[in-house]
Parts: sequence; C-alpha cells; structure tokens
Amino acid sequence: MHCFINKIICLMIIFVRLSAEEYNFPILKNDNLLRAARGEAVDRVPVWVMRQAGRYLPEFQEVRKQHDFFTICRTPELACEVTMQPLRRFDLDASIIFSDILVIPQALGMTVEMHPGVGPVFPEPLQSPADLAKLTPEGAVGRLTYVGDAITMMRHMLDGRVPLIGFTGAPWTLMGYMIEGGGSKTMAKSKAWLSDYPDDAKKLLSMLTESIVDYLEMQVKAGAQLLQIFESSAEHLPKEDFLKWSVPYIKEIRDKLTQRLQQQSIPIVPMTIFAKGAGHSLKEQAALGYDVIGLDWTVDPIEARKEVGPNITLQGNLDPQDMYKTPEEIRALTTEMVQKFGKERYIANLGHGITPQTPIVSMETLVDAVHKAL
Ligand SMILES: *[C@@H]1O[C@H](CO)[C@@H](O)[C@H](O)[C@H]1NC(C)=O
Repeated sequence: MHCFINKIICLMIIFVRLSAEEYNFPILKNDNLLRAARGEAVDRVPVWVMRQAGRYLPEFQEVRKQHDFFTICRTPELACEVTMQPLRRFDLDASIIFSDILVIPQALGMTVEMHPGVGPVFPEPLQSPADLAKLTPEGAVGRLTYVGDAITMMRHMLDGRVPLIGFTGAPWTLMGYMIEGGGSKTMAKSKAWLSDYPDDAKKLLSMLTESIVDYLEMQVKAGAQLLQIFESSAEHLPKEDFLKWSVPYIKEIRDKLTQRLQQQSIPIVPMTIFAKGAGHSLKEQAALGYDVIGLDWTVDPIEARKEVGPNITLQGNLDPQDMYKTPEEIRALTTEMVQKFGKERYIANLGHGITPQTPIVSMETLVDAVHKAL
C-alpha cells in the first residue's frame, strides 16, 4: 500500500515537473559556475572560455573539414561532439552549446553563409526598411528546434560533469549583421538606420527581441542551465546610443523571459549580459536584472566591482591576445586577474572569444592558473 501511494506521489510530481526536468538529466557534479552566478560560495573559481569549442582545436578543424559550419550547428550529434571537444582536453567548469548568434536571422528567413577566413556573409542583407516585410517572425522559433535538440542531447552526454550554457545574440548586434551583411568595422549602414529610420529600427529590434525571448524559453525547456546574451557590437555605440538602442531590449528580454517562465512554473536560470565595449555603462547594466555581467579586457576588475556593487557576478576578462604570450606570462597575468576579482561572485573567462591561432598550452595554463590563483 505504502509503495503504491509513493508511486502515485511520484507520478504526480513528474506530472507537474518542469519540462527540463522531465528529461531526467544526470545530477550535476560540478556546479561552481551556477553557484558563482547566484552569489553562493564556490569550491574553486569556475572558468570557461568564449568560443572554447573552436578553430584553435585541431579536432574541431577536422570536423570542419568534413562539414559546413551551419551543418554542424543544425546536426545535434555534430554540435554535441564539438561542444565536448574542449572538455576532453581541459578541466573547464562549464560547457556552452556549439551554435552561432546568426541562427536567429536565418530563422527569420535570411540566408547566412560562413565563408572560411571571412566570417559570416549575408548575400541579401536588409537594404532599406521595405526589406523588413521579407522577414518571417511567425514560427521562427520552430525553425530553431535543432538547437533545443542539441542542448538536450548535450545534457545527457555531459553526464552532469559541468553545467551547460545556452546563448543568443542581442538585438542590436543581430540587427547590425542583418543590415551590414556580415561583420563590419564601422557599422555605418546600421548606424544610418538608427538616425534615418528610427521607427523601423525600433520595429526590427522589437521583432528580434520577441524571437530571442521565444528562443531562450525553448533553450531553458531543453535543458540550458545558464543563458548568455552576446551584445558583441555594443562597442560601436556611444554611451547615449547604447542606453537607447541596446539596453531597453536587453532588459525586455530578461523581463519577458522571467514572466513567461513564471507563468509555466518553470524557474528562471541565471543570465549573463556580455556587452563588449560597454564598460562605460556598468551601473546601467547592473540594473537590468541579470545575474552576471561579462567584461571585456579594457575594464579594470576593481573599478568594475565598484560600479556594479556586491550583488552582481562578474565574468572575464583576460585579453585574448595575452594567450599568445609564454605560459609563465599567462600564468602571472591570470593569477593577478583572479586575485583582483576575488573568489566571490566571479567567473573567470577571456574578455572576448579565443582566437584561432591560440596555442593549446595557453588554454591549459589559463585553466590551471585560475584554479590555483586563490
Ligand atoms: C545586496 O543584497 C543584500 C542581500 O539581499 C542586500 O541586503 C543589499 O542591500 C544589497 N546591496 C545592494 C547594493 O544592492
């Protein structure tokens, strides 16, 4: 009888469980990343590296020889294999699902190609506000289920070793790629939209915000344990424009996602905002409700802490170019960095993505130096 009642209780619990938990994921063994994000004590300073699954790894290059970049993103087995690669080599405290910020413009109907040595190319960028009519926001998230599938598969493959991070590009950064047709040193065309067609720019940024909220909701349900929003092109905006064209949408993403998950009784996961080049607005970023603020290498750790106060976790921020120095120099710089940030509310990382020629030994040194610094 007891046994029977227990079974019924179990079934009831399973019934009201959150979608991510229905997958019966393995128990997390190293949760230092999540504890740091929530401001709890850690066993050791957690470290991961932006683009840790990437071209500096010869085994990644091997997979790339056989498969197109976006084919890897769209094939969960391949995405999981490359996500796993850095974890086989390094004692990292997090994994981040292999994908690209430009899958959202693709889901909105745009063609994006990855050209080796060039980067992403949009053969038909948005040339005028009339082109907004070509975008297909309805059902966009339904065209991104492969990312959710990869996340769920990866949670099982990780076997609870470290948490899995999901991510997205932020609206201004995505808008920039969609208008410039690829990376840009000046963002001249996108900035012209902000001044010449402000209402259309707002329309596009709002459309992207809606798609991003749907996309992040899907990632949480699939098993993402932390979400990072990449506003990589914040560096092109003066402070006033950053506060006008980037910050409100980043806030809306957090607010809407929290509300959306609350309505379904799904707990929100910690969220990180990484606005590269926006060290001028750390106070403003700290007010957006994000748990973690990512810093690029131009920001001093001590000054950043003063700006954001005690209740935000900081992430970063070694200069990726420092990874070309000798192991002795990397160890010294990393130790100094970790000591400046301290053990509380800190996640070690680079200040931007690791670059393709970085020696493997630099990664080994960085990870070891973080763990031994305090
Ligand atoms: C930080 O959080 C603590 C505990 O919740 C709170 O008492 C304190 O006022 C917060 N400090 C700031 C500067 O927000």
